[in-house]
Amino acid sequence: MILTCGNTKGGVGKSTLAVQLALGLSLAGDSVWFVDGDKQGNGIGAMTLRTDRELPTLPASSYTDGKTLRAQVMLQAKQFDHTVIDVGGRDTGALRAALLCSDIVLIPFQPRAFDTWALADVAAVIDEANATRDTPVLALAILNCSDPAGSDNADAIEATQEFPQMELLNLAPGRAGIGRRKAISHASATGLHVSEYKPRDEQAIAEITTLIAVLKDRQNGIVSTSK
Ligand SMILES: Nc1ncnc2c1ncn2[C@@H]1O[C@H](COP(=O)(O)OP(=O)(O)OP(=O)(O)O)[C@@H](O)[C@H]1O
Ligand SMILES: [Mg+2]
Repeated sequence: MILTCGNTKGGVGKSTLAVQLALGLSLAGDSVWFVDGDKQGNGIGAMTLRTDRELPTLPASSYTDGKTLRAQVMLQAKQFDHTVIDVGGRDTGALRAALLCSDIVLIPFQPRAFDTWALADVAAVIDEANATRDTPVLALAILNCSDPAGSDNADAIEATQEFPQMELLNLAPGRAGIGRRKAISHASATGLHVSEYKPRDEQAIAEITTLIAVLKDRQNGIVSTSK
């Protein structure tokens, strides 16, 4: 699959989830190419940390220019089982280009008003991409950094219903997306998959593993532009 972690809002967990997804797919035995479309280079930085720590790493490339990103992905993605693209937190050329060549766009959002308001911007960018695509991109919104209690998760989830361009991804009954977990943020920031991080956080591992399984399942239901 070609999967983009995208949102026009910054700091929602795009790079964190992109790193976890790419490493998780790779550790499960699939071939994965990591593409960083953000000048900040957080994702590719995480992959470089693996090299420093002498851990098995992934092929990773950085294309911050949208036209180049799209051309390279269209050229090279066929060589891999999966291509995971991380983009910056603004309406950039890289985001727009990634939306044109991805099978799935995963849209992390947090249970905060600013994040749910930003979904309207994301929806507009998805509409524009779909206007030039043969088939619409599968746009899946995922609640990230969910709260352990309270009504904010449910309010944020409800806000996604306004946007027919995207679907809220349910990981499991009773599980409100991906929790705010130290193991997830620390693992990504140190170039580790959550299963490699110590102390082990079984909840965090379960959430990331389920996310990958659900995405693979959804991918099987669509005709891929990748291998
Ligand atoms: N599930 C999570 N649990 C705990 N912390 C998280 C989680 N997801 C993201 N974070 C933290 O939130 C912050 C923002 O995450 P991240 O850098 O991945 O967001 P981003 O959307 O890629 O931001 P940008 O728009 O700047 O690229 C980081 O400090 C990260 O460690
Ligand atoms: Mg980022």
